[in-house]
Amino acid sequence: MKKSKKNKVLVIHGPNLHLLGKREPDIYGGYTLSQINKELKARAKKSNISIKIFQSNSEGEIVEEITNTQYDFLIINPAAYTHTSVAIRDALLGVDRPAIEVHLSNIYKREDFRKKSLISDVVLGVISGFGKTSYLLALEAAAGVLRNKSR
Ligand code: DQA
Repeated sequence: MKKSKKNKVLVIHGPNLHLLGKREPDIYGGYTLSQINKELKARAKKSNISIKIFQSNSEGEIVEEITNTQYDFLIINPAAYTHTSVAIRDALLGVDRPAIEVHLSNIYKREDFRKKSLISDVVLGVISGFGKTSYLLALEAAAGVLRNKSR
């Protein structure tokens, strides 16, 4: 039987997510970014997906990573840039790749400035409010979309 090519998923964690574990644990949970990444890698392996994970505090670096298009599907937590970044929005619009926006917290249940996302109307969907499970749900959704595409 022909071995099918592995789909590539890129996960981008935006600014300050490297502080998870010690950053406002009542809002973001007590787990570290490397614990989340470990779970994502294990889940990707089960779904036969190749996964690359990237964290940056810099808007420009995130734009570079999005527009390099070395991936079939993007999962992105733009963190604070969700609410401010026309550059990340334009990068997403500029590449022909499906994407999911992820948040650990429910941004619609927080301060007013967090309720506005510049990203949500240019991605396939948004998963917000389930802590680290938000990322795992996004990977599940990505696997489903990629499976349907390859049929
Ligand atoms: C966040 C929500 C943003 O409002 C915030 O700036 C973050 C994290 C989340 O995952 O809940 O840094 O994206």
